[in-house]
Amino acid sequence: MSSTAGSMARPRGLRTAYCGVLGPGDAGRRVSVCGWVARRREHGEHLAFVDVRDHTGIIQCVVDGAADLRSEYVVRITGTVRPRPEGTVNDRLATGEVEIGAEEVEVLSPAEPPPFSLGGRSEAEEPVRLRYRYLDLRTGRMQANLRIRSRVNAAIRRSMDAQGFVEVETPLLWTPTPEGAREFAIPSRLQPGSFYVLPQSPQIAKQLLMVGGVDRYYQIARCMRDEDLRADRQFEFTQLDLEASFVSKEDVWDFVSDAVLAATREATGAEPAPVETMTWDEALDRYGTDKPDLRFAMELVDLGVAVAATGFKAFQAPCVRAIRIAGGGALGRARLDALTNRAKQLGAAGLVWLRVVAAEAGGAELESPVAKFLADEERRAIVTATAAEIGDLLVVVAGERAPTSHVLGQLRLELGQPPVFEPPYRFVWVSDFPMFEGLDDEGSPVAAHHPFTMPHPEDIDLLETDPLAVRSQSYDLVLNGWELGSGSIRVHRADIQRRVFSALGLSKEDAEARFGFLLGAFRYGAPPHGGFAFGIDRLTAILAGEASIRDVIAFPKTQSGADLMAGSPRSLPERQLAELGIRIVKPAGPGR
Ligand code: AMO
Repeated sequence: MSSTAGSMARPRGLRTAYCGVLGPGDAGRRVSVCGWVARRREHGEHLAFVDVRDHTGIIQCVVDGAADLRSEYVVRITGTVRPRPEGTVNDRLATGEVEIGAEEVEVLSPAEPPPFSLGGRSEAEEPVRLRYRYLDLRTGRMQANLRIRSRVNAAIRRSMDAQGFVEVETPLLWTPTPEGAREFAIPSRLQPGSFYVLPQSPQIAKQLLMVGGVDRYYQIARCMRDEDLRADRQFEFTQLDLEASFVSKEDVWDFVSDAVLAATREATGAEPAPVETMTWDEALDRYGTDKPDLRFAMELVDLGVAVAATGFKAFQAPCVRAIRIAGGGALGRARLDALTNRAKQLGAAGLVWLRVVAAEAGGAELESPVAKFLADEERRAIVTATAAEIGDLLVVVAGERAPTSHVLGQLRLELGQPPVFEPPYRFVWVSDFPMFEGLDDEGSPVAAHHPFTMPHPEDIDLLETDPLAVRSQSYDLVLNGWELGSGSIRVHRADIQRRVFSALGLSKEDAEARFGFLLGAFRYGAPPHGGFAFGIDRLTAILAGEASIRDVIAFPKTQSGADLMAGSPRSLPERQLAELGIRIVKPAGPGR
């Protein structure tokens, strides 16, 4: 178990020492420890070794063999700390040089045998762990994760406080906001037929706080979104949410960078690299994604110049790009065919692979079924552009810019990405996203971030004429290939906000009905403002070395949205439904 904040606290109450911190320096001390029986081994006829576990670790106690102490019994053991006899020291245990010779043994609570072993890294399947989450929480893994999370939160709070931010709580019973996710609705008892909505984020509330003159706001905010659950998504999650007035995007980046770097230092003890910056265009060109993982190279290389005059049909395309797989020349035909199929599956017309081999005349030459279609100087230019070395493999895709980058970006991840939580921790700001991404079924643009994002000042007049060309003043923070958070400089003027709503296909009446309170507030003097929110669950998972945010949340939901322990969601008694004015209509179709 981790020796963290809890173990530094002065023991109080029933105990005078924590289990996991006793050592040779404590020899001769009479102590009382409290905890759970982790393991019992008989020692001769009259004695037993009992390992007692608390949140700090384990201590071996030598007790009377007649004591009824079984796995997970809650005990208080009083006795004297002494060095273990020669030859019985356990190097694998932090307290392995000592033991407690028990003088008093009290059972505070008996226990049934646990449904799975709580020792070491839990082997049980996740559904069993979640059904008995209170037992799973006793494992070293979950104890460490919850404590890391607590320290991440504390570091964030210290950072925000030191930067002059004010913590304000915003309502959980809220009203719909257009941030892209389906919302959870809460029926009103006092106004049957009316609903509150649980906030997807405190977005509008924090903007109103700016109108209210709060200047720098933050909140460790619970957010609720009814969306498909995945390793990095839960219905309920937690953001560091912040907003500030009269600031530039660089100011917001400084605020947030300070907080995430402080959290990383606190959780890992390591000094992370400074946060890098990159435009959305650059991220797409170099990494084929807006969530670049900077921990490994294999960057996309543009071959446009190298093959500008090519006679090879497949390369006569607006965009020809490659990635270099160091040492990949050894891949056999089956692997190369699989790679080609994968590229097609991702939407490429095809994939060209080129092995880099030694040339007869010295230097490097390319070997490939299509090498003969490339002129000598083209092959040389490709080797130079990609800085390829003998033994490497080049993978080339040609086509339109966006899909070509996407395919190579995805192949790059599949071929080279380490698990998300593997150090180092590489943070990067990605900025200048387009304002809208594509059109919806009705032909209206879809907001790439959310509709409260300020368009790039040079592009505002394109809102009506060429919305898809409008850049926004939004930015994302990416860590090891995961989107950690996003934010923007906001619209703070009612006239521009109306134009953005209108570009999104929202009628004047609809905009007024849904966001009248925000537009109204802007009439009374809104300061220019901007902000950000990042996922604390995601940050903590990465820093704790976990691939799923479920492992850093005390009581998460399963993939299908169930709480296996509490048994939610569940039906309500008729009386309660009637009070809310609700009648259940059995949904049509299986499972819905
Ligand atoms: P956004 O919707 O990008 O922005 O959310 C910010 C961050 O919150 C985390 N997140 C989630 N984490 C776990 N489960 C989920 N279902 C989930 N959804 C989001 C992610 C994400 O990057 N109001 C804006 C921020 C702003 O503009 O200031 C917002 O919420 O880490």
